[in-house]
Amino acid sequence: VKIGFVGTGRVGSTIAFTCIQQLDVDEIALIDIVENLAIGEAMDLSHAAAGLDKYPKIIGGSDYKLLRGSDIIVVTAGLGRTPDMTRLDLATKNAGIIKGVAKKIVQNSPKSKILVITNPVDLMTYIMWKESGKSRNEVFGMGNTLDSMRLKRILYEFTTKKIKKAWILGEHGNSMFISKGLIDVESFPDLDKILSNVRFAAAEVIRKKGATFYGPAIAAYRMINAVLNDTKEEIPASVVLDGEFGLKDIAIGVPIILGKNGVEKIVEYELTQEDLENLRNSANLLKEKLKELGY
Ligand code: NAI
Repeated sequence: VKIGFVGTGRVGSTIAFTCIQQLDVDEIALIDIVENLAIGEAMDLSHAAAGLDKYPKIIGGSDYKLLRGSDIIVVTAGLGRTPDMTRLDLATKNAGIIKGVAKKIVQNSPKSKILVITNPVDLMTYIMWKESGKSRNEVFGMGNTLDSMRLKRILYEFTTKKIKKAWILGEHGNSMFISKGLIDVESFPDLDKILSNVRFAAAEVIRKKGATFYGPAIAAYRMINAVLNDTKEEIPASVVLDGEFGLKDIAIGVPIILGKNGVEKIVEYELTQEDLENLRNSANLLKEKLKELGY
């Protein structure tokens, strides 16, 4: 098993650190435009692994050849936002980066699944899919998994119940929504207030500590684990739609089954009217932005 990383900043390196602890991997390849950062992270991670009695091959650098033969490649390359920015503000800059990364991944490791993390993740997932020429099941983005973790935590604070299924769907951004049709809570607490807490949770963490990375790392790990261990976990993630939920030519957060083939299924629940309207609203926003980016 080999996991590749493009981008070894705060989020990429924390995902790699999580994978070393939680998974059995034979090899990890770390790529960053800042070569020494990737090499340094590879060294540090190899020392961490030895402490767990694990000795995977861990390599770092700027040469995409290192990625060859990766089962899955995790892309976090790009800029993060500052407290005054929305995720959409990052779009133009990161779109250029993702376009370049897509080409290099396909040249060097054409069979890998690609997990996109770079924000705005729904747009970057679409661009990665388009520019890589890969099939829809092989490219997916992490956003709503993390949003849903935040939702669960906030629901727990309101209800002191561990809720199994509570999902945020739609854009990983300001138009995200709580799926009221797909939630295991009998009587709703004030969901509008909870949604607003979830929406701004990341911005608050960024304001206080500069970035989010533990939450994103666990969310990404769960998706990587689903693929590598073929768990067929049902998870909300950003995927390219082709008619599902009446939407096309867009990547957006919906429930999927994730397994060894990547996106094994898009689970087309019969959503409530409200959920559907919210999903379409997110999709319209993202479509407009994609158009601005030339897609
Ligand atoms: P960071 O700045 O710590 O790391 C980004 C890394 O990308 C840097 O090391 C940089 O040198 C590298 N990089 C930039 N251009 C590159 C290129 N062309 N090729 C290879 N490497 C390149 O940022 P951080 O905090 O790790 O965030 C990374 C991205 O992930 C941001 O866009 C952020 O908004 C996003 N993010 C997404 C989340 C999600 O839920 N989808 C959650 C948290 C962050």
